[in-house]
Amino acid sequence: MAGWWYLGGAFLLLFGILLAPYLYKINWIKDLRLEGKGKKVLANHLESKKRKLGKLPPVYPNGWFALLESSQLGRGQVKHVAALGQNFAVYRTDNGTVRILDAYCPHLGANMAEGGRVKGDCLECPFHGWQFRGSDGQCDHIPYADKIPHIARTKTWKCCEANEIIFVWYHAEGLEPHWEPQTINHVLNRTWRYQGRNEFLINCHIQEVAENGADSAHLSAVHGPAIFTKISRFLSSFARHQWSNVNWTPHNSFLESLSSKEGNESKKQNGENLRHRAYMTLRHRLILFEKFEVLHLDVNVQQIGPGYVELMMETSLGSMCIFQTVTPMEPLLQKVTHVMYSPPVLSPYASMLFLGECLMFERDVAIWNRKKFEKQPLLVKEDKSIIAYRRWYSQFYSQHSPSYHAAMKSLQW
Ligand code: FES
Ligand SMILES: [Fe+2]
Repeated sequence: MAGWWYLGGAFLLLFGILLAPYLYKINWIKDLRLEGKGKKVLANHLESKKRKLGKLPPVYPNGWFALLESSQLGRGQVKHVAALGQNFAVYRTDNGTVRILDAYCPHLGANMAEGGRVKGDCLECPFHGWQFRGSDGQCDHIPYADKIPHIARTKTWKCCEANEIIFVWYHAEGLEPHWEPQTINHVLNRTWRYQGRNEFLINCHIQEVAENGADSAHLSAVHGPAIFTKISRFLSSFARHQWSNVNWTPHNSFLESLSSKEGNESKKQNGENLRHRAYMTLRHRLILFEKFEVLHLDVNVQQIGPGYVELMMETSLGSMCIFQTVTPMEPLLQKVTHVMYSPPVLSPYASMLFLGECLMFERDVAIWNRKKFEKQPLLVKEDKSIIAYRRWYSQFYSQHSPSYHAAMKSLQW
């Protein structure tokens, strides 16, 4: 009889484990700069004072940057986001359109995102009730004045929503966007569902984060030891992660190889339009006892501009994806998020992989939080993708892209 109880219990446990990811989505928010308690936090802080900066590239590249996830901004809501040396008032009108204005009201400087109200397409300042149009920033209404001065306007920022992320366009020369992130079909038609997110604050230059993709040599060193190292060193001695078929290519080289083979001029032109993209492939295996492969993933990564990445994962059970965003909140403070989507039926598997991704990413964060930016790295032939990556990334800087010191000055009171 007891056997039936055990069997019933085991069945319920398995059912619970399988059901949990459908009910509870991972929301992993970490600031590893502040990890530890009391003395350790103080020691980290003192240590960070001694940190070298290195010769940095400009701190805010040109491109689209994530400010919020779509689910964080309901209709009629307004939120303040400080990023890229700017203060944005991001709001959603009652018909669902997202608008972004400069947060500070040109009248007397109130922060319109703190207590402001959405009125039609306008944002109303909480201080004296002036209303500014989201479409062009023009003041539309002053409750106590007969005439609205034509210079009464605020700056508007180009924005777009893709893959349930709200992006702002930043360009140091004020140029209009020439590309936009696109929603992938599985997310658009909701055949893939949200499976969880993470969020990290990291002290490093934005360029360091995506450089990881071109730096194939770090994979074995940083991501080779088994994922459960933190839980048990003994257990992890039986397993390791293997990374192979690693390849990083900027879009232009990818197209050049095609057009030289096929002599196709239109493909070459298309290459110019998509030069903000770069591609990476890799294969990941989890090996037990140096013999048994228990997990196999093929990952196709698209770096789209300076702060956005799409990772498509082909698993033995089906496809899924992760969207990564990197936004400079300050010159050397990056907010990085990952959001995962998969077919609903793969929810438990996707949650497991996502948990692994969170733990793996923490290993990179631990390095970024402490390293200096090395402008002239001492590389070997096998590191050549890093040079190609830096050349590719330099397209996102322009004449007036702010230096670290200029950006820091504008942050000081
Ligand atoms: S400060 Fe905004 S209306 Fe006066
Ligand atoms: Fe990494």
